[in-house]
Amino acid sequence: MQKIHPASGAPEPPTERREFIKQGCAACLGLAAVVAPAAIGARVFLDPLSRSNGTEAFVKVTTIDSLPEDGTPVQFPVLADKRDAWTKFTQVPVGAVFLQRRKAGSPLALSVVCPHAGCFVDYLEDQEAFLCPCHNSFFAKDGALKDEQSPSPRPLDSLEVQVRNKTEVWVRFQDFQLGITEKKPVT
Ligand code: FES
Repeated sequence: MQKIHPASGAPEPPTERREFIKQGCAACLGLAAVVAPAAIGARVFLDPLSRSNGTEAFVKVTTIDSLPEDGTPVQFPVLADKRDAWTKFTQVPVGAVFLQRRKAGSPLALSVVCPHAGCFVDYLEDQEAFLCPCHNSFFAKDGALKDEQSPSPRPLDSLEVQVRNKTEVWVRFQDFQLGITEKKPVT
């Protein structure tokens, strides 16, 4: 015999049908809980060219006093607050930057990331040049391509710098697309 819902007075579906509907809903919710985070994760991990470092704002990196007066580039970590879909992380390393003092104006900031395929470059003090250890791209101290055989399609990427409160060095930390001649930010 068909049951009547006590509140609405409407006939209730048979027990087997109710169980089937309940199980179907649970399966849909379970699938959504697995697929949505997996899709977000896949985008981040499988598409590095579209992966941004998570901060496009100016970040305080150091003070002018910590830069050698002779203009030798020094590498500094960049720390920033980061947020993903669920969590906020404060002052985590998001990359690094080479800074060098100049005779006039604000310091020069160069990304440590080789525009060819994304390896970190090293500064060779004796040659006053940057070398990428992965495929030997060679860059001058100001970031220009030093060797025409270098596989990098463009010079090292410069970053915007601001000097605040007379001594603080702030850098607009950005990632740029790899493997192309144009300097194009990752969005
Ligand atoms: S990644 Fe630097 S030369 Fe290839």
